[in-house]
Amino acid sequence: MGNKVLILAGDGIGPEIMAEAEKVLAALIREHRLAVSIEHALVGGAAYDEYGDPLPGQTLQAALDSDAVLLAAVGGPKWDTLERALRPERGALLRLRSELSLFANLRPAITYPQLVDASSLKAELVSGLDILIVRELTGGIYFGQPRGIQTNPSGEREGVNTLRYTESEVRRIAHVAFSVAMKRGKRVCSVDKENVLEATQLWREIMISVAGEYPEVELSHLYVDNAAMQLVRAPKQFDVMVTTNMFGDILSDLASMLSGSIGMLPSASLDERGKGMYEPIHGSAPDIAGQGIANPLAMILSVAMLLRYSLSMPDQADRVENAVKSVLTQGFRTADIHTEDTEKVSTSEMGDAVVSAL
Ligand code: IPM
Ligand code: MG
Repeated sequence: MGNKVLILAGDGIGPEIMAEAEKVLAALIREHRLAVSIEHALVGGAAYDEYGDPLPGQTLQAALDSDAVLLAAVGGPKWDTLERALRPERGALLRLRSELSLFANLRPAITYPQLVDASSLKAELVSGLDILIVRELTGGIYFGQPRGIQTNPSGEREGVNTLRYTESEVRRIAHVAFSVAMKRGKRVCSVDKENVLEATQLWREIMISVAGEYPEVELSHLYVDNAAMQLVRAPKQFDVMVTTNMFGDILSDLASMLSGSIGMLPSASLDERGKGMYEPIHGSAPDIAGQGIANPLAMILSVAMLLRYSLSMPDQADRVENAVKSVLTQGFRTADIHTEDTEKVSTSEMGDAVVSAL
């Protein structure tokens, strides 16, 4: 039997970084005889080109049948002019999240000591940084109805999106945030815009009520504008941040820069039972695709999260994370994190280095 992992390489730099992550996963499976089987399927623009659908039925079915999905990235200029429902972002990524009920998105922002100088902030502000952003992923303005572009009665076109959250949607993401906080620094900061948006007024109420079930966790609240400011002013004040789909999208890109490069950060998107999809937080970076310069570490660290959260193999997860730390200590750097006294390597050289450090 064993665990089934579905690999979706997608578009842009996706196939390049996925090749490195697969090397790492395959090495672990081989060395430690893990009961893990791997399947591949097309997704995103690559699937659209082949089947006219960015999430073909067989890919969705394979994702539903697997224990975990490893996804690189989807989208690119080639598909940007398609109607929205067929574009890789909406037609594949958001659909996968929604069809698999992956409502909890965990985005760690960790500054590795070796990369302190790659951050755009001063070293003392980021050294030792370890934040976890918990982003609600299947609700909010990304999915709320009504939505669309319509012509209003006075004949003018109008764009509409809707921010909605039900109590149960907020409650379940609150539980995720408080339970992960229990395993970390026991502090949760909930980010909202309660002063303006009723949907997030409800969000705050529910956060406060769920906090009652976790007496050891300290809950605080910030408006999203202030949270953005605090993240660059004094990021180490945070442990776990929990927030809505769109605020989480924005704040996690911001937080990624604290860690040196967006090319370093993995993420896990989980359902109620711990099944998950694992992906780097960065996109398909079409501008650098095919050049062998992309940083595969976020993709490789996504394998670690997959091992930890969906396959319950924390030792293997530690192995991968330690191998990444070790290659950084050895001075290997892809272009995005390269500094003068380090060794610039290609995407595949970085993957090879991680495999030998395993
Ligand atoms: C992310 C990405 C996606 C999002 C895009 C590609 C739809 O930015 O995972 O953060 O907005 O969720
Ligand atoms: Mg984003």
